[in-house]
Amino acid sequence: MVEPVYMPLVKSDAHGVLGRNACVGAAAATESWAAFLDAFRHPSRALPPPWDDIFGPLRRGAVDDLVVIGQIGQSLDGRIATASGHSRYINGPAGLTHLHRLRSLVDAVLVGVGTAIADDPQLTVRHVAGPHPARVVLDPKGRLAACARIFTCDGVRRLAVIAEGARCAFNADVEVMSLPAVDGRIAPRAILAALAERGLRRILIEGGAKTVSCFLAGNCLDRLHVIVAPIVIGSGRPGFVLPPIERADQAMRLSTRTFQLDDEILFDCDLSAQRKPAGAAKKSM
Ligand SMILES: NC(=O)c1ccc[n+]([C@@H]2O[C@H](COP(=O)([O-])OP(=O)(O)OC[C@H]3O[C@@H](n4cnc5c(N)ncnc54)[C@H](OP(=O)(O)O)[C@@H]3O)[C@@H](O)[C@H]2O)c1
Repeated sequence: MVEPVYMPLVKSDAHGVLGRNACVGAAAATESWAAFLDAFRHPSRALPPPWDDIFGPLRRGAVDDLVVIGQIGQSLDGRIATASGHSRYINGPAGLTHLHRLRSLVDAVLVGVGTAIADDPQLTVRHVAGPHPARVVLDPKGRLAACARIFTCDGVRRLAVIAEGARCAFNADVEVMSLPAVDGRIAPRAILAALAERGLRRILIEGGAKTVSCFLAGNCLDRLHVIVAPIVIGSGRPGFVLPPIERADQAMRLSTRTFQLDDEILFDCDLSAQRKPAGAAKKSM
């Protein structure tokens, strides 16, 4: 018989501060985050603690020079939204802060059109210091309204991925990427290659379930951050939508690290071993 060993989780505080044994106040967090952000985009600079532990792996890709991160915030029973599609907010302040830190580190944040319609998200960085990423919607049929907040003209690049031959009525300042689709599905590797050609090389796939699952199934994620909140929704939208498997022992078993974010648990899953290479292009800024 194997005796379980109960290990304490990594400590964090209300500001979403992460890292082995890290627990700092708001002022120190703001200051050290600014120093981390500065170092993060300069490959020769060492990353300062406490942020290096959790965010260090997002600095460079293990397979090519893209880094692709999926994120999902879910309940204890694996739901990312109620049956009606309401998801604000499954995660508490620390989880939200973590999401904004992720956004500030990437070149682009991508959501599926289901999320863009259900939540009308801004996808900007508001809870921490940092630059706003480019905003990308995966909308093969071009059905998102031109007035969606993702398309707000605020000086940030906005892009839409549509299927070749689809029509859309987005404003002229939205960059439209028209890609081949098979049965309405666009290959996630083709999406990454097209983003890389536009200089967007560190990408956050922020949801929803169908979109994150498509990148996961396509072996297109380097890492997956799943934040589990101690709530039970009971029914509703599942966190992942993948083809059925016959037996439990066929399930994907992921290599994870865990961090505590207030009363929530972040699973940082390392998927780099199965990541397939995508396209090549200019360096990330
Ligand atoms: N808790 C969280 O972390 C979180 C995060 C984000 C969203 N959400 C919630 O999740 C729900 C939306 O999730 P969802 O899974 O229904 O939708 P979604 O993933 O946001 O969008 C799905 C749609 O995106 C398009 N799409 C995705 N992958 C594609 C591909 N490979 N090729 C072509 N098109 C592709 C398809 O559009 P077409 O249908 O036009 O073909 C698809 O139906 C909302 O309720 C939202 O509130 C929760």
